[in-house]
Amino acid sequence: MSAPVRALIAAIGTYLDALEGPGTDDVRAGFAHHGSATLRTVATRANAVVDRHLVAALSAVEGWPDLKNSIAAAAPHLRWVTYDLYDRALIGDAFADGHAFASLVGPEGPVPAAGFELGLFLIAPGVFYRDHNHAAPELYAPLTGPHGWRFGPGDPIVWRPAHRPVWNEPFRPHATMAGAVPFLCLYVWTADIDAPAAVIRADDWASLEG
Ligand SMILES: [Fe+2]
Repeated sequence: MSAPVRALIAAIGTYLDALEGPGTDDVRAGFAHHGSATLRTVATRANAVVDRHLVAALSAVEGWPDLKNSIAAAAPHLRWVTYDLYDRALIGDAFADGHAFASLVGPEGPVPAAGFELGLFLIAPGVFYRDHNHAAPELYAPLTGPHGWRFGPGDPIVWRPAHRPVWNEPFRPHATMAGAVPFLCLYVWTADIDAPAAVIRADDWASLEG
């Protein structure tokens, strides 16, 4: 069971080494510090969003065949979670039911770590992850694209290609729009990983989600 997860961790290390931009040095430092810990067994958990969208997401990934194949091989050995700590009325049904993540390195992950979190994150096509922020500095490394972003509630969505990371400093507002293909990314929190995220209201959610 652990070999596919270990292979995925190795492929992620190779991918992170090639990333450029703000925050990527912090991410590499955290990964170098935590990523080689001995694997532990975690209870696996299947997930309907993963069952429905992961194959399509992986087939949309351009390049990086080792990473892609290792995600496919490791996926059944991971504990996939649809996060339910947001107020559903605030975060909206589409996101509440349309995403899943699996921790790989972190307090609950197969690679144990304290104060650092890295995993896979999947959002169904067309779903808008509403404006929010949190204390944790965060890197998104999107493997699929285009993916849409804004960093101020009410601002226009800006689309970016796959493999162009996004770095969010602590408490920077951010919102993510999945495009026509499922949004699949690596997410990394380099500090303050236990502080909760807060949704920030904007008056254009209905038009974005229409
Ligand atoms: Fe975030």
